[in-house]
Amino acid sequence: MRTYRLALIGFGNVGQGFAQILRDQGDALAQQFDAQMTIVAVSDLLKGSVCDPDGLSPAALLDAVQTSGDLKGLSAPYQGWDAVRTIAESNADVLVELSYTDLESGEPAVSHVRQAIEKGQHIITTNKGPIALRYPMLSALARQHGVEIGIEGTVMSGTPTLRLGQELLAAAAIDRIQGIVNGTTNYILSQMESGATYADALAEAQVKGYAEADPTGDVEGFDAAGKVVILANVLMGASITLGDVARQGITGLTPQDIATARNEGQRWKLIASVGKTADGVHASVRPTRLPIEHPLASVSGPTNAVTFTTNLLGDVTLIGPGAGRQATGYAIVCDLLGIDRKVKPRG
Ligand SMILES: NC(=O)c1ccc[n+]([C@@H]2O[C@H](COP(=O)([O-])OP(=O)(O)OC[C@H]3O[C@@H](n4cnc5c(N)ncnc54)[C@H](OP(=O)(O)O)[C@@H]3O)[C@@H](O)[C@H]2O)c1
Repeated sequence: MRTYRLALIGFGNVGQGFAQILRDQGDALAQQFDAQMTIVAVSDLLKGSVCDPDGLSPAALLDAVQTSGDLKGLSAPYQGWDAVRTIAESNADVLVELSYTDLESGEPAVSHVRQAIEKGQHIITTNKGPIALRYPMLSALARQHGVEIGIEGTVMSGTPTLRLGQELLAAAAIDRIQGIVNGTTNYILSQMESGATYADALAEAQVKGYAEADPTGDVEGFDAAGKVVILANVLMGASITLGDVARQGITGLTPQDIATARNEGQRWKLIASVGKTADGVHASVRPTRLPIEHPLASVSGPTNAVTFTTNLLGDVTLIGPGAGRQATGYAIVCDLLGIDRKVKPRG
């Protein structure tokens, strides 16, 4: 059986979601795919860090965080390593980068990913920052070092959007991608559709954990813009930046706008869009009125969806969760199995 030794940088929602999958289904996955995923290191800014070259028990990691809020009481041969030291000194062959998203500098994740690639580690990340800002550089570096980068969780969490586009629709020629890629704003718009004001809908999204205390990144469209850059650069061979995305959030939409659209058989959605034209690839994020029969119009609440417009198949629409600890943890599993398919000896 092939074994992959993983170092996790960041042990928040996604790291714990992934550990839960390994705790509950790790053995079954190993049998099914003949590939064992072993966590050998976890390094988290506040929760602490542990490393055991022979493997850490996912159950013990989760118990420690659930009972004491950190990893400091766990017994492990090496403790207290920061991310840089963990990448440098652990025996991991895959870096799983799960630290905070920063869409301005991409740091510290860009540095983590770069360091790991240069050490010859494969990369899996659900962090949009390094991928939206530095994907062309990082993927070139990965090719140079003969390692793979898995990024499924950066768009629509575990719903396999990027893999569908990269692998199964590549030969169908994708001309345009339109999507609802931010669950927070879609939830707010759905609530407004049912009569809530923007302020009430936002407050409810915050109570349910869909929106952050500072919702700017979601409601002003920055999060969706990061994802549209990833879709453009990964699936359409573009090399656009966040500054190239024409971006408008949902804060200007009024209950009157929503009601008028409804009366005319339409619905407002925050649509992220990227399309090929004769003069290049163009990307935007903006509130858009869709006819009620459009496949994206019926996607409500925090659910995400994308429609790929392809030359050979026409429209293909994918609907699924866009966030959540288990859904995003699943993206890590998918990426690891994708790496395994690429690197395992052909039999
Ligand atoms: N949650 C989702 O549904 C979802 C979906 C798709 C993508 N993502 C992305 O996946 C990543 C992880 O998300 P999450 O929900 O797990 O976030 P989270 O709960 O905030 O966890 C992030 C963790 O990273 C730690 N961290 C930050 N900087 C670090 C560093 N330099 N070294 C070591 N640890 C560091 C934080 O430590 P402390 O808090 O202890 O300081 C925190 O525990 C983010 O980039 C997020 O945008 C999340």
